[in-house]
Amino acid sequence: MLPVCLITGASSGIGAALAREFASHGHSLVLTARREAELNALAEEIATKGYARPRVIAADLGDPEGIEKLAAAMQAAGLEPAILVNSAGGGLLGDAALLDRAQQLATIDLNNRALTDLTLRFLDSVTRHKGGILNVASIAGFMPGPGMAVYHASKAFVVSLTEALHEELKAEGVKVCALCPGPVPTEFNDRASVPHDYFPAALSRPAEEVARAGYAGFMAGHRIVVPGKPNRIATLLPRLLPRGLVLGFLGWRWWKARRRG
Ligand SMILES: NC(=O)c1ccc[n+]([C@@H]2O[C@H](COP(=O)([O-])OP(=O)(O)OC[C@H]3O[C@@H](n4cnc5c(N)ncnc54)[C@H](OP(=O)(O)O)[C@@H]3O)[C@@H](O)[C@H]2O)c1
Repeated sequence: MLPVCLITGASSGIGAALAREFASHGHSLVLTARREAELNALAEEIATKGYARPRVIAADLGDPEGIEKLAAAMQAAGLEPAILVNSAGGGLLGDAALLDRAQQLATIDLNNRALTDLTLRFLDSVTRHKGGILNVASIAGFMPGPGMAVYHASKAFVVSLTEALHEELKAEGVKVCALCPGPVPTEFNDRASVPHDYFPAALSRPAEEVARAGYAGFMAGHRIVVPGKPNRIATLLPRLLPRGLVLGFLGWRWWKARRRG
């Protein structure tokens, strides 16, 4: 079996930027997401730059059958991950009581169930190749999020899972890292119905910068990578301040945003 770097959520945003970053460092890629045309366009762009042409396998990871299909397609092509990059994910802005329940559960299916399935499924091959797993979490994983309750909880899960696996696997020489960006201008915001001025501009970083920091931190064996100093402060404060105070501030922020409409 040929070792590759499997990147989920590669059809746009941070996943696509990570694909360009890993390709530029000589990794052979498998790109996955639902939109095959976008994946093929990225594969073509990477090949045109003179790097190895990525394989494309379109799959819906929100559906357990989609995950089986991806794994079967890789097996049939004689490929197995030495590196797994879980970037596919999304969220919804709104009061949990008012948002659609099925859509909120779909967030967990993608952000948590699919990420955990792929992580556990490929642990053996990643360990044999002494490679690693880069999970895209968020600064949201460090604090509860009124207005994005399920999203924040899903990212707290990703941070916790990643840190535990980092500890379990470090003796094996396997890298496990959570990339925790602050706001990044990608399709995420439209999909989540987040207004463009919802997050403080000082926290925002371009996807390319996030991908560069993520790649460097992952390769250096870091457990957590938070791109940008303001975001590092934003993840530190909830660990230093009383939880109720942080929650009160975030609740007030959401109340103000709701009133603005
Ligand atoms: N943008 C931000 O502000 C921000 C901040 C912190 C963390 N993050 C995290 O970064 C990761 C990437 O988000 P992004 O900002 O790059 O947003 P994005 O541009 O919307 O990318 C999301 C990716 O996930 C894929 N995806 C969505 N549903 C899928 C499904 N059911 N099956 C397979 N793939 C699916 C999408 O591709 P298809 O639609 O083609 O399937 C797309 O490639 C997410 O985990 C997100 O939570 C984002």
